[in-house]
Amino acid sequence: MKKLLSLLSCAAIVLACNSVFAGGADLFLVKCMGCHSKKGGAPFISPTDKSASVWEKYFKRHRHPVDLSKTITKDELNQIIETLKEHAADSDQPASAVIPK
Ligand code: HEC
Repeated sequence: MKKLLSLLSCAAIVLACNSVFAGGADLFLVKCMGCHSKKGGAPFISPTDKSASVWEKYFKRHRHPVDLSKTITKDELNQIIETLKEHAADSDQPASAVIPK
């Protein structure tokens, strides 16, 4: 029973996070940095890693080595790509992501 309760509260938190974290920057932090962090094991990434046009093509051409279609919806991915482009290396406001723990 205790296990079930904690499972339920986890689900509630995930649902709450999904509605609170709208917007590409938050989606990037939640959806991408979960893996691209020390804990996740994938190398650290940042919007400034690529120019806007490269980010645009990166996912459209399926360059990402891991299939994300089950964890990130098309709409979410588009929002993330917009944020990446906004802060890309050649953008008006390049920005590095904060290195996650
Ligand atoms: C399920 C875990 C996971 C998620 C979620 C994820 N990635 Fe990745 N990503 C990986 C792995 C694993 C690699 C391959 C790392 C390697 O080659 O050593 C990778 C590679 C990359 C690379 C190439 C890095 C390089 O140094 O060549 C980029 C860029 C990238 N991911 C961007 C993203 C973005 C942007 C998102 C969010 C939309 C994202 N990833 C979400 C696991 C993930």
